[in-house]
Amino acid sequence: MQHLTISGLQWGDEGKGKIVDILAENYDVIIRFQGGHNAGHTLVIGDKVFKLSLLPSGIVRADKLCVIGNGVVINPEALHKEITTLQAGGIDINERLKIADNAALILPIHSHIETLRGQVQKIGTTARGIGPAYEDKIARRAIRICDLYDKTHLKQQITVLTDYHNIWLKGMDEPPINPQDMIDFTMQYRDLLLRHAVPIVPFLHNLAAQNKRFLFEGAQGALLDIDHGTYPFVTSSNTIAGAVAAGSGVGGNADTHPFKLGIIKAYCTRVGNGIFPSEDDGEAGDILAENGAEFGTVTGRKRRCGWLDLPLLRHTINISGIDGLLLTKLDVLDTFETINICTHYQYQGEKIDYLPNFIPDNEPLTPIYHQMQGWQTQLRGAKSISDFPQQARDFIDFIETQIQLKIMMVSTGPDRADIIISDLPDFILGDYSNQT
Ligand code: IMP
Repeated sequence: MQHLTISGLQWGDEGKGKIVDILAENYDVIIRFQGGHNAGHTLVIGDKVFKLSLLPSGIVRADKLCVIGNGVVINPEALHKEITTLQAGGIDINERLKIADNAALILPIHSHIETLRGQVQKIGTTARGIGPAYEDKIARRAIRICDLYDKTHLKQQITVLTDYHNIWLKGMDEPPINPQDMIDFTMQYRDLLLRHAVPIVPFLHNLAAQNKRFLFEGAQGALLDIDHGTYPFVTSSNTIAGAVAAGSGVGGNADTHPFKLGIIKAYCTRVGNGIFPSEDDGEAGDILAENGAEFGTVTGRKRRCGWLDLPLLRHTINISGIDGLLLTKLDVLDTFETINICTHYQYQGEKIDYLPNFIPDNEPLTPIYHQMQGWQTQLRGAKSISDFPQQARDFIDFIETQIQLKIMMVSTGPDRADIIISDLPDFILGDYSNQT
């Protein structure tokens, strides 16, 4: 009864939502374990488009239980909005959503501070208060959902929090936050939060004891990981597959330890600032952005685009302990005459195969590309990889050989049907073939 973790191996936006939605068929519980409403998942189901940022992608399937783990930071207003929008779209979630009662909340004070600090411009954050909320969690002054069980205790905790932040606001010549505003905000969503709250560890372990299978849904991508990403241009949580245990309380033993699927896009994108060695800010980048509709789900920002970067991929595969790969958006490369894949970097006169953690401004790092011939045909509609033109098969072979991992699934379009499964283990696949 092996569980499954799905994580992005680049800077997010690899198309995880769609893959989770498809593979959810064979799993009972879909669990998010990190991040907040900074994540953006677009799901296309028939003629309906769902944009999710906080709820697990499995929520659009009527028979799936969805869990927001303790590693997620929750903005109650965003939660309420997403639930209301889904319900208006005919999706009933009430009994199917559970939230860890030890998850920390994002309050309006957090996005306020983030904006005042200039992090939105400096890092290119989503301005959702994610970083400041995680800071409060690590500093042990966060408001957790379980604090809402006792109203007197909640008020005290919120006052401690606002007292702390008001010192800084005073130093910035900004008006102080009135604790009562934060209390009112939290109380407004108290019923909603408590309706879904569960003690996550006994809750999930009881389900595991009934042989329920878990699918852990990562948000963002491994290159945005607070420890192993392109710091400081990262998000404030651990985004790698290993964060599942801390963010959900499920470690997994020899039988249930999650199988880890890594999602990679056939090229790279990033939103926000920070190093992007294979970025193409010329015509090729524009074509990738246009063909791939590379505009942020959460902020609407145009994503920076560039070529697939193998040194970074090896890095995130190693950190996450990835067992197999899913390649998405291969069709976005359809029109290119030549396609670049970054295999190494030129740095300080040497050819290196990893990204140094510190690169001085006067020591440029230049990508070294392996150039491949494009296929210049439409891939969408192909039923198997053997139907692909030779150039597309060469592209896949090259990646597999370079990183020594199997590509088990390829996606060639936005719909559920645009998925080619080549080598996915049966225990993951289940009866997927029956639903297409
Ligand atoms: P934060 O998560 O809002 O603190 O933003 C930190 C960095 O992570 C910024 O570069 C964001 O653009 C990026 N980021 C956060 N969430 C996502 C996502 O879901 N997809 C892609 N980038 C993201």
